Amino acid sequence: MLARHSVLMVVVFGMVLSGLIYLNNIQCRLVYKQPDVLAGRTDVASVSPWSAPIIWEGNFDSALIDSIYKQHNLTIATTVFAMGKYTRFVKDFLESAEEHYFVGFRVHFYLFTDQPESVPEVKMGENRTLTIQKVPVLNRWQDISMSRMEKLEKLIETELASKADYIFCLDVDTKFYGRWGAETLGRLVGVIHPYLYNVPRNQFTYERRPASKAYIAAEEGDYYYAGAAFGGSLEDVHHLTRTCREQLSIDAANSIEAVWQEESHLNKYFLLNKPSKLLSPEYMWRGISEQAAPIKIVRFTNVPKNYAEIRPNP
Ligand SMILES: *[C@@H]1O[C@H](CO)[C@@H](O)[C@H](O)[C@H]1NC(C)=O
Ligand SMILES: *[C@@H]1O[C@H](CO)[C@@H](O)[C@H](O)[C@H]1NC(C)=O
Repeated sequence: MLARHSVLMVVVFGMVLSGLIYLNNIQCRLVYKQPDVLAGRTDVASVSPWSAPIIWEGNFDSALIDSIYKQHNLTIATTVFAMGKYTRFVKDFLESAEEHYFVGFRVHFYLFTDQPESVPEVKMGENRTLTIQKVPVLNRWQDISMSRMEKLEKLIETELASKADYIFCLDVDTKFYGRWGAETLGRLVGVIHPYLYNVPRNQFTYERRPASKAYIAAEEGDYYYAGAAFGGSLEDVHHLTRTCREQLSIDAANSIEAVWQEESHLNKYFLLNKPSKLLSPEYMWRGISEQAAPIKIVRFTNVPKNYAEIRPNP
């Protein structure tokens, strides 16, 4: 009798340890740490002045978040552009994404490239798809940057409406080193830039010439957002891409090019349309070997490269 009890207890304990207690086939209960009203990270801000969460390691329970979002059978569309020699980054990007990016979720990658023939073969996991879209060759990297918004706008209109729930638009010269998961999902999501998260806003590299549609005055601005990653719902990202595409073309008609092209316009957009969720620089860091006190985990970084060698023009 005693032995049977202890066997039972070990089994029950094991189930608690593994996190899940199955009540029956349909309902299951997740056991997790009690949320604390008073304790949390004190070395970083976890919320913006408009009450949008800022996502940092230590402020979320990934198993809990996954269990909430997994009920919805979501599809995350994810776009990258690999023009010219940038196709060399595709393999590392996709392989590291297979390991860390929305693991266990349905992910559909859309790769835009002018050189489909030089995209390496990457084995994709179950529920993960790669679609390659050929785009015309562009000769200036500034034009490549400019045309992205237009391509994204069209993709959402023509392709994604019935096929995805959220979209993330990422740079391809990047690599995942840690979890990037459902904690990042939201209506409109921006990533705080890894080099400018701790400087006064008058030092942000916003476009400062009033002649540009991306202009932001020295005493304005919230955060400096990275152009290398943004996302959200299809509707919100469609509005973002349409607006930025329009503003970019007004600038082009006025023969002015914002200092950081689409990143400048993205920053203007986020000033006027506040993101509903902000990702800390863990989600776009400076490189795997760089350290900074608030960065407890590097999830995603850009890959060091020689611009002179890889860009079609200076
Ligand atoms: C989940 O979504 C995919 C793609 O939208 C669909 O093919 C599949 O049938 C869905 N599965 C369930 C269980 O609803
Ligand atoms: C793929 O998605 C289906 C639901 O549509 C799910 O049952 C299955 O477990 C998923 N596979 C993986 C490896 O996540």
